[in-house]
Amino acid sequence: MRLSVIQGQIQTTPADAIIVNLFEGVTAPGGATGAVDAALRLGKAEAHGAISQLIHLGDLTGRLNEVGVVYTYNQLPAPRVFIAGLGKREAFTLDRIRQASGSAVRKARDLGCKRVATIVHGSGIGGLDPQRAAQATVEGALMGSYQFSEHKSQADDRAIEELLVVEYDGSKLDAVKAGARAGEAIARAVNAARSLINRAPNVLYPDAFAQAAREMAAQHGLRCVVLTEAEIATAGMGGVLAVSQGSQHPPRFVILEYVPEGQEGEMPPLVFIGKGVTFDTGGISIKPSDGMQAMKADMSGAAAVFGAMQAIADLKARRRVIGLLPLVENMPSGNAYRPGDVLTMMSGLKVEVVSTDAEGRLILADALHYAKRYRPRGVVDLATLTGACVVALGEGVAAGVFSNNDDWCAAVLRAADEQGERMWRLPLYSEYGDKIKSDVADIKNSGGRTGGVGTSAYFLYHFVQGEGEYPWVHVDMAGMTFSPENKGYLVKGAMGYGVRTLVALAQAE
Ligand code: BES
Ligand code: MN
Ligand code: ZN
Repeated sequence: MRLSVIQGQIQTTPADAIIVNLFEGVTAPGGATGAVDAALRLGKAEAHGAISQLIHLGDLTGRLNEVGVVYTYNQLPAPRVFIAGLGKREAFTLDRIRQASGSAVRKARDLGCKRVATIVHGSGIGGLDPQRAAQATVEGALMGSYQFSEHKSQADDRAIEELLVVEYDGSKLDAVKAGARAGEAIARAVNAARSLINRAPNVLYPDAFAQAAREMAAQHGLRCVVLTEAEIATAGMGGVLAVSQGSQHPPRFVILEYVPEGQEGEMPPLVFIGKGVTFDTGGISIKPSDGMQAMKADMSGAAAVFGAMQAIADLKARRRVIGLLPLVENMPSGNAYRPGDVLTMMSGLKVEVVSTDAEGRLILADALHYAKRYRPRGVVDLATLTGACVVALGEGVAAGVFSNNDDWCAAVLRAADEQGERMWRLPLYSEYGDKIKSDVADIKNSGGRTGGVGTSAYFLYHFVQGEGEYPWVHVDMAGMTFSPENKGYLVKGAMGYGVRTLVALAQAE
């Protein structure tokens, strides 16, 4: 999809569809929507245009994600108008712009529109900053019209070819252009993460993921180093090695680095770590087969970090950022690691394996220890770590967050809130640590049935704590992998959760 920003009036823009908007409860639309409505008035005597007529009929309410359609019968260059519902004005947010824009643009795509023009939602009557509003409008448009057709013989050929962002006010044009450019970079990064998650696990194995990272890094100007199995062994990453040893696919450990122009590589970076289990069978502690295919998404944390690094490079963010991706496949086999094994981790800590299905924390442990060499100013790890987190917070509702540092945690929660990526902090009580003490080794990798989300976080904390401890936030995003439906900017399938929060952190001052 080509994206351009032009100055003009939406009602005179030639396109297959033009998109305007409506707050819930408004009966006499103003701004661009009012201008379109006025242009769709039959005769001067008519009190209402086509849009306000729909409102009076009760067919158009402006509630969030509603998309009204009006046909223009040659009164305008565009044959149809979509009216995106913004919801109640009091509840208006940037994320609602993304949602409304996503719903409207997806509808245009579904109807086969090739050239679509939209106003910037929220910068006129909504009163939001035009740059941020334009960014959100474009993010929503590109995320909402995402399609995954890599594995289809016959790809759906309905695709928007050109999206025009039309701004009437010339004084806002530069801001709208800057916002649109940023929105495009971020949405493309989210969609890249989604495609990694949606990709079949026989196609996306650890080395394939690492190759994708290499190519992305070359295209976007990031440094990229990929550790092979031998190098992972030399580094002593006992967790990564053990989890991957049952698979025909060797592990990889990817290090992506973004250094802002004019800064040497020595300033304390942010480090983002993503769990990259390209398929989680559970290993010898094998999972039930029902629904197991969803475990292709067990690399959603790594995908989020991949996408974030891509956007951070495109946006030339001001912070130095490192991305660490431990990539493994967790399989049962004659060579697989077993319950009862004791692993020596990169940190030197010895871990008793009680479940080979608690594999995510084992690979993250090595990455969290590895991060210490950077003396980071802050670390965030994202992981589809526990079913317990999904039980606690719900599917598609929020990710669970744990932290050793209130300020860093507040910064992450603030960024997530702004992005509409819900996160909810949970406690890192020392009692969770008590539950993973081992009789035979230092700690064990599972604390049993209850408190499973807390014990998993406390396990990770063992590799952050002590010498070289840094501010750390752990995000358990197990419930945030797939969207069950098309809604707002979400498309059925991978959500691409986490990318935008990480990008916002890298851009914060
Ligand atoms: N990848 C799973 C967690 C998961 C569950 C992600 C549902 C997405 C949706 C993780 O590796 C796992 O298997 N966790 C176990 C831990 C247990 C064995 C201590 C779990 O949650 O059951
Ligand atoms: Mn598992
Ligand atoms: Zn897993």
